Amino acid sequence: MKQIKDIKIKNKFITNKRQSYKVKNRLNIIMSKFKLPLKRTDLKEGELVKAEVGDKSIVLGMVKGTIYAMDSVCSHQGGPLEEGWLDDYDLTCPWHQGIFDIRTAKASPKTNWVTDVNSYSVVIDEKSEEIFVEID
Ligand code: FES
Repeated sequence: MKQIKDIKIKNKFITNKRQSYKVKNRLNIIMSKFKLPLKRTDLKEGELVKAEVGDKSIVLGMVKGTIYAMDSVCSHQGGPLEEGWLDDYDLTCPWHQGIFDIRTAKASPKTNWVTDVNSYSVVIDEKSEEIFVEID
């Protein structure tokens, strides 16, 4: 049976470092890097974990040792994606089985009733194993 963790991040636990990234077209995109109250060792292969960061609800999942993050609310009818399941990189929504690629948060063409959601970069501090997500 899959274990689902529900984590509420209060402002006092959030490390918010404003970072500026220059992109090719010379626009500056301001992104925030949030520290989650999780370490790499808290996630297990194929497990989904929900976290709330500010006003965003995200789901994290580990596939082949890499952790990915995307919106946790399904674009179809709002299904809780953290209650879905992973099959390789396919994250399936528990309500109507819409499929997303957890690497990109793009909807699978096999389930055209769902549309893309947002994907977030995950950064792991190699020393402390703390998990950070970058949200713009
Ligand atoms: S709510 Fe996710 S597929 Fe319908």
